[in-house]
Amino acid sequence: MNRLLLTHAHIAPQTASNSLIPNGAIALQNGFIDWVGPMAELPESYASWPQKNIKNRLVTPALIDCHTHLVFGGNRAKEFEMRLNGASYTEISRAGGGIVSTVTATRAADLETLITGALPRLDALIAEGVGTIEIKSGYGLNLETEFNMLRAARALGQRRNIRIITSFLGAHAIPAEYAGRADDYITEICISTLKDAHAEGLVDAVDGFCEGIAFTPTQIARVFDVAKELGLPVKLHAEQLSHLGGTMLAAKYGALSADHVEYANEADAKAMAASGTVAVLLPGAFYTLKETQAPPIGAFRKHKVPMALATDCNPGSSPMTSLLLTMNMGCTLFGLTPAESLAAVTTNAARALGLTDTGRIAKGMRSELAIWDVETPAELSYRIGFNPLHTRIVGDTY
Ligand code: NIG
Ligand code: FE
Repeated sequence: MNRLLLTHAHIAPQTASNSLIPNGAIALQNGFIDWVGPMAELPESYASWPQKNIKNRLVTPALIDCHTHLVFGGNRAKEFEMRLNGASYTEISRAGGGIVSTVTATRAADLETLITGALPRLDALIAEGVGTIEIKSGYGLNLETEFNMLRAARALGQRRNIRIITSFLGAHAIPAEYAGRADDYITEICISTLKDAHAEGLVDAVDGFCEGIAFTPTQIARVFDVAKELGLPVKLHAEQLSHLGGTMLAAKYGALSADHVEYANEADAKAMAASGTVAVLLPGAFYTLKETQAPPIGAFRKHKVPMALATDCNPGSSPMTSLLLTMNMGCTLFGLTPAESLAAVTTNAARALGLTDTGRIAKGMRSELAIWDVETPAELSYRIGFNPLHTRIVGDTY
């Protein structure tokens, strides 16, 4: 029996009532939370458990990064310089750079290179208390390299103590060999690779990029139909650079999330609320691309669309490996409150991944916790470039 009783904890449980528990205790047993509440109410039966006094440190659920492209080859520092000299993300993409330049580098890397390249990025997230991370494919755009990316993502979960959720993102860009033939790419590569990867157990969800430089809603719908047949949940990069209708499409398919959503409008927010679709906000990409249109936070609040925040870690639009900085940017760039930003990387991020056993501190949830050297939850969003993590607990060894 693996047991631990955390005492003298300042708990931010992220449950429905979400009131802080100032002098609390959390009982952990075999990988799950057995009891949580004020120390004064701790049942007698826990008195004999091994205890750790955490001296009034703040305890939150372990953080969840629900949108990353963590596995890739090469880097795009050159495009960073091009943008500083005035080129736009769209121009670079149309000139053969952007996502497809990372595709070339990713195809050139073998499986082990992809894994070892991603590990330092993963370690940076783990060091900030992240316990679950989503990783997308989408820099292979052929069977071999999409498989390599998904296998690398699964392997990362073996090499580190972290839960990995994969998303198949075959509909990320049109590879050079299919230039001008997006529909053929969807039929011949994207859909057939999705089916094969699903058969190998490599796919937890299906994603797409609905944008002028990527795929139309009609093309994305073809991929979503296959996801539906396979029983896989869907999500979508939607309304990042323009309004194409991706969010409505995502809502129509009951998507777990619509991501970026800078150009979404109130009707989109209403549709998301009705379908229970989470708005995943990616301020790292907004910042990197110097976008000016922020997502419609007011409409999301008004219609009670749950909002999550994620790093979008990728070599092009968001070369970022800090979820704490993402929380800060969520507040400063998008106007979230610190409380919203904490919910955005815990309970709402869990929901964006379809997970019901993490992201909250409550009986029966997995023992996935972050203990912080701070006094209040707001401090997690407030600092820039400082990591106050004291201990991260993930799994059943305490
Ligand atoms: O989430 N928007 C599309 N996909 C990524 C960008 C990937 C890239 O530029 O390499 C994103 O921002
Ligand atoms: Fe992305």
